[in-house]
Amino acid sequence: TEAELYTVYKGVYVPSHLHPPHSLRYYEEFAFRPDDIIVATYPKSGTTWMQEIVPLVVSGGDPASVETLPNWDRVPWLEEQRACILNLEQRPSPRMFSTHFHYNMMPASFFEVKPKVIYVMRNPKDVFTSSYHYYDIASFLVKPGPQSEFLDKFLNGKAMFGSWFDHVKGWLSADNKERIMYISYEEMITDLKDSVARIAQFLEKPLDAEVIEKIADRCVFKNMKKNNMSNYSAVPREFMDQTKSEFLRKGIVGDWKNLLTEAEAEHFDAVYKDKMKDVKYKFAWD
Ligand code: PPS
Repeated sequence: TEAELYTVYKGVYVPSHLHPPHSLRYYEEFAFRPDDIIVATYPKSGTTWMQEIVPLVVSGGDPASVETLPNWDRVPWLEEQRACILNLEQRPSPRMFSTHFHYNMMPASFFEVKPKVIYVMRNPKDVFTSSYHYYDIASFLVKPGPQSEFLDKFLNGKAMFGSWFDHVKGWLSADNKERIMYISYEEMITDLKDSVARIAQFLEKPLDAEVIEKIADRCVFKNMKKNNMSNYSAVPREFMDQTKSEFLRKGIVGDWKNLLTEAEAEHFDAVYKDKMKDVKYKFAWD
């Protein structure tokens, strides 16, 4: 149950196993550098994809780090237990981090130092679909149970890292917008080369067209899925059972159509419309 597996941190559920109190405290006191790069996402929105793209852009296309370091050490989550043992203070700049935190959960140093952020968003119906499969295979998450119940939980923010709606609205209303790049999973699917080029531009890392093409080719779903440093094959089965559903599962837009009933999709849209009514941002999926 939630009470057994999750900790409530700043009002949202976080999996207790990955985020013991000392690791959350470590993040609260974390000292950013102005040239740090943060990949911020609601879970299942394109984190792993960015953990592949950003290091390749930063290295000018050199695949050494994506071939030798697992994604969770390459672009580590700052709120996870492992962050405390990676000696991040000693890492050379630019350091790359991930976070699933909401904007208003970010630590003090973030607001003072203003490192760059790449915020990845994905159609919430596909986030729901990806989550539904993932919660089933991850032993540190509460099993999704009946689909209708999981849908209620998702729409009411009773999932890990809370409400998708609050997450997106929070990051979209950030103060330091010139330091934040907003990009969607859907744009990356539509034109990965263009997305890589825009990321390189945002990170002020000029790259030749041929390097951009090479990076994009490495990062398309079918190629990235073969990278054992990024496909979670190193995680033991009792922790994540990929015989049931793979971490890099389908990698498409619109898989919600294969999961949600017509009534569920309508209900989802109605909740979305209400919760997002004051948001001006033009989303790729609208
Ligand atoms: S997590 O647990 O928050 O880190 O998950 P996250 O990486 O954010 O999301 C996982 C989904 O992203 C898909 N994915 C990709 N899609 C397309 N191309 C590439 N290269 C890629 N890499 C990861 C992954 O398959 C999950 O989506 P679903 O819909 O389940 O396939």
